[in-house]
Amino acid sequence: MRQSRKLEHLKQTVALKDGPGVTGFDDLNLIHNCLPDLAWSELDLTTTVAGIKLGQPVMINAITGGATDVAKVNGQLAELARRTGMAMAVGSQFSALENPEVIDSYKIVRQVNPDGVIFANLGAHITPDDARRAVEMIGAAAIQIHLNVAQELIMAEGDREFRGYFNNIREIAADCPVPVIVKEVGCGIAAEAAKMLIMAGVKAIDVGGRGGTNFLAIEAARANRQLSVGTLHWGIATAVSALEVMAVLPEKVDLMVSGGIVSALEAVKAFAIGGKTVGIAGQVVKILACQGLDAAEMWLNDYFDEIKRYMLLVGAAKISDLVRVPLVITGFSREWLTARGVDVVSYAGRR
Ligand SMILES: Cc1cc2nc3c(=O)[nH]c(=O)nc-3n(C[C@H](O)[C@H](O)[C@H](O)COP(=O)(O)O)c2cc1C
Repeated sequence: MRQSRKLEHLKQTVALKDGPGVTGFDDLNLIHNCLPDLAWSELDLTTTVAGIKLGQPVMINAITGGATDVAKVNGQLAELARRTGMAMAVGSQFSALENPEVIDSYKIVRQVNPDGVIFANLGAHITPDDARRAVEMIGAAAIQIHLNVAQELIMAEGDREFRGYFNNIREIAADCPVPVIVKEVGCGIAAEAAKMLIMAGVKAIDVGGRGGTNFLAIEAARANRQLSVGTLHWGIATAVSALEVMAVLPEKVDLMVSGGIVSALEAVKAFAIGGKTVGIAGQVVKILACQGLDAAEMWLNDYFDEIKRYMLLVGAAKISDLVRVPLVITGFSREWLTARGVDVVSYAGRR
């Protein structure tokens, strides 16, 4: 059952459009700087997240593994990561903990990219021992723990028991030999939950917000059923979630931004919020499936160049300099954030 689900997730990702909920990035505006005092050669895309140095600020987020048929896709994703110098997360490794036959569908990532930065991935119901085994399986630099309550509720075969996650995450963070990152998968993380995750000892939070791949729609399509408009729009828009979480993060915990990040401009806005990385999943799957590996590599190299172009146009030499450029927050996102006590004016007034 789990093996065929992995294949269907890939198939439905290609078939379905993002949304219908929006990411909120259209409400965020960067300001053109006509006197940047920078040279193209100075621009630096390197970043550090959870203490891990990365050559690119964009990573391939958790996608797949756990079935013999998806090993090829993981191999292609790993090759793309190797060619571009991007970090990459594997999909949930729970199936490999239960069924050693599918371990190779994850290990292929390390074989193809022996020196790359790879993140492990598991759900929040697991034990510290499970986390260690997942990390060892692929020589991971960090582990992502995913939270996907809404997705589980739409799946007929999904979990209905969500108690104990906070304690599990706290125990994993205390025991794990590598940094623990908590991520959502498309419904976002609110400030209240972020504060709890900080207390649990995580090193980074990836907001995994609404507006990109919609797992509720994917699960409904798999089961051949219709969802209500309210359910289809459920979640916190990615940009809004990132701004909420950033407002409560202490310096020692990093923000990662994902969920519907498709364009380089959205990525740059995410860095301007304070994101140390952005993650892309659905768009990479679509381009690989429809255009192949070489086209995906070309798309990403153009993407990195476009990020640099925007950095120069706002006067930022490094990714971390982007948190000092003005960001004007308008529209529904502004109303939401103001209601939630986030100081939107200070973003616009940055110099
Ligand atoms: C086919 C597919 C499978 C995924 N499987 C996982 C998974 O196993 N674990 C996880 O944490 N996230 C998983 N995700 C979610 C992504 O990592 C990401 O959080 C989500 O798709 C939103 O980002 P996007 O809009 O860039 O796709 C998967 C995404 C896709 C497209």
